[in-house]
Amino acid sequence: MRLNYETIPRYVPHAVKGHALNQNESQYALPERLKTAIRELPLDLSHYPVDELTALKQSYAAYAGVSPQQLMVGSGSDELLAILCQAILDAEDVVAAPIPDFSMYGIYTHIARGNFVQPDADGLSIGSLLETIEAERPKLVLVSNPNNPTGKMWSLDELETIARRVPYLVVDEAYIDFTMEDSFKDCLAKHTNVIILRTLSKAFGLANLRIGFMIADERLIEKIDRFRSPFNVSGLSAAVATVVVNDSDYIDESINFHQTQRQKLETLLTPIGNVLPSRANFLYVETPDSEAWAARFLEKDVHVRAFADGIRVSAGTDEAYRLLQQTIEEVTSLENS
Ligand SMILES: Cc1ncc(COP(=O)(O)O)c(C=O)c1O
Repeated sequence: MRLNYETIPRYVPHAVKGHALNQNESQYALPERLKTAIRELPLDLSHYPVDELTALKQSYAAYAGVSPQQLMVGSGSDELLAILCQAILDAEDVVAAPIPDFSMYGIYTHIARGNFVQPDADGLSIGSLLETIEAERPKLVLVSNPNNPTGKMWSLDELETIARRVPYLVVDEAYIDFTMEDSFKDCLAKHTNVIILRTLSKAFGLANLRIGFMIADERLIEKIDRFRSPFNVSGLSAAVATVVVNDSDYIDESINFHQTQRQKLETLLTPIGNVLPSRANFLYVETPDSEAWAARFLEKDVHVRAFADGIRVSAGTDEAYRLLQQTIEEVTSLENS
């Protein structure tokens, strides 16, 4: 094994029973018309996938308003993070990210033999991030926008300022479909050192397919693509994804559903603590009792994610909300008795 391999934590997935409001997956059921179209896809399993990927790139490029040459497809945006860290970093290169942010950023940095740094305090302010950049001179900065877990949006001005100060910036837009007007996409032509990451795991409701996209300047894609394994995405996944991406009504329906459910959730969670503004499909509530709240909800089979100073709750169904409401009422009536 590599020296110090123990410093890389193992990610052990487990199936979630009940209402999974802990992974920001879509809760909008795939409509029957799409299920039928998917069942009718030809099952051609004996050869390596090529045409399916070409078709998916064409469909997603049209959705995203970019050219297919600006795209790379991965087995989830997770795989693309791993690939781009391998492609960009030499041993001991520094990678910086805000704090809190997506937990996998540090892990992929370490796998690629880089050093991961985050601001010491006030980790979601542009000032702190720029100070960290000034002090640590990172080769790569990774930023999720909207931020996971808080929902905070970085402005395009802030992202452009970062892009001007570092060799490479990744803007991870896993949740941007919920607020597409805030995408960095139209700034790419000005900033050819920026890589956007997208996924079909959230608003598109296709986490099980494992499909993510990298969007960048064609010349940068050409370089990073050398670090991808030959047939990294299954043709079945790509074919199913193409059917779903081509149905433009579906993504609108999903976004409307999640926006309505997020608004309901905001009202529901207000008694727990300060609910941070969010345009994504989740909310972050600041509370010192985060572990206790997560445990209480779990008793009713509702999974939420606890952090040190709050809980992150994905927008869910009315049925899940009924259980959240019951729990909150039980606790507040006990406190008032
Ligand atoms: C900010 C962010 N980036 C990337 C991912 C990975 O998504 P996937 O690998 O399913 O495309 C997630 C998943 O939760 C995320 O929250």
